[in-house]
Amino acid sequence: MNDDETHGADESHPISRRRYVAGAGAVATVGLAGCADDADEEFEEDDGTNGDDTGDEEPPEDVDEGDLEIVHWWTAGGEEDAYNALLDGFREEHPDIEVVDNPAPGGAGSAIDTVIQNRVLDGNPPSTFQIWPGQAMTPYTDADLLEDIGDSVWDDEMREAYLDDVVDLSRPAGDLVAVPINIHRLNNLFFNAEVLDSAGVDATDIDDPQGLLDALETIDEETDATPLAHQTQSPWSTLQLFEAVFLGQQGADDYASFVDGDVESLEDEVREALELLVEYSEHYPEDAGSISWDQGNSQLIQGDAAFLHQGDWAAGQYQGTDDFEYGEDWDMVAFPGTTGVYHSVIDSFVFPTNNPSPEATEQFLNYAGTVDAQERFNPVKGSIPPRTDVPMDEFGPFLTSQFEDFQNSTSQPPTIAHGTAVAPAIHSELEEAFANFNENLGVDQAYEAIRDAF
Ligand code: GAL
Repeated sequence: MNDDETHGADESHPISRRRYVAGAGAVATVGLAGCADDADEEFEEDDGTNGDDTGDEEPPEDVDEGDLEIVHWWTAGGEEDAYNALLDGFREEHPDIEVVDNPAPGGAGSAIDTVIQNRVLDGNPPSTFQIWPGQAMTPYTDADLLEDIGDSVWDDEMREAYLDDVVDLSRPAGDLVAVPINIHRLNNLFFNAEVLDSAGVDATDIDDPQGLLDALETIDEETDATPLAHQTQSPWSTLQLFEAVFLGQQGADDYASFVDGDVESLEDEVREALELLVEYSEHYPEDAGSISWDQGNSQLIQGDAAFLHQGDWAAGQYQGTDDFEYGEDWDMVAFPGTTGVYHSVIDSFVFPTNNPSPEATEQFLNYAGTVDAQERFNPVKGSIPPRTDVPMDEFGPFLTSQFEDFQNSTSQPPTIAHGTAVAPAIHSELEEAFANFNENLGVDQAYEAIRDAF
């Protein structure tokens, strides 16, 4: 589909001009360092606590001049299929451009940071890379390492079509530097319907995070299944579970204060969430410390686990599984206590400076911003599009329901674990806090580390 065909479908997105990402316009910057050499200190050293894998810090050997090298982490669950659907569309429009895929596998980008930081700082970046828009980009914009694509990519048609708040997230320091491609929801509680039935648990009856603990205990008593298919190998899933519990217990206003760093006045509330997590942890899989998020999800698919708190990328994995149907075999409710909240996670691609393939990169970013790209990518990925004019007929019943929830949502807070809400330095401290918490379940220590992270 070309750009001309993208007009005229505005009815598909009734809240098209609504601002939806809380605080998106107020993305903080730390000041421009001005050049790559000064930028080292803006970037956090990787402490080794959050990596599933280490990526390749060099371009692959088969990259020729002008080739489009893409670094991303979409290799798990159904994510690779979504990425390939995007590339298929791009190749159809640009058969002349050679795409070189260079993944840095690891859920929630747990391995990509080091690879990308080093390459970008060394002046040896890939053509483009996957990054969360908003706060996650600020070390790069502070150091002037991302090109302003406000004229070359963001033409009037594209600006008009995108949700305003997503456009704002794409300019953390003023210039437009990113092309967002999706909107995921994080506050999902997925479940295996048969396992819940056999335990006599009705997910729609669970009103709050404490009620979820009761349901986990019932599953534990009544079935052989693992109550909560959680992974602790890498800290991001516990950090995001903390966010969900906190939102479910305290609501979006307290969550906003927390994200703003007002942790001390919320000490009791933070401790309450941590204490509940300690109780949840009794219901994690025995192998929680050695599995990835999609392996946890496979346990749910196989009926060996009941619940999973995860972004709706998990639904992309269900879609890629035969004989595992939405509404029959699996279903989802908003994480207890968060009905009306659309806890959003967004991915984007950028144009690093010193670009090895300026023309191909510009074509790719242009394409990522089209209806065609977002219509191919999102239904497979398990996300909804940030453009307001993407026809939703091919998105299936689950994403149609998510889309309705998005449109009816009363708040759309940004996420900590997926980088939109807090700067990378804070994000990295919080990951370390939750890596330790996964090990020792120490509420005091975790509270202090969270307070100090801000
Ligand atoms: C998120 C990312 C999603 C998905 C998920 C699991 O950070 O935004 O697209 O990949 O991690 O790895």
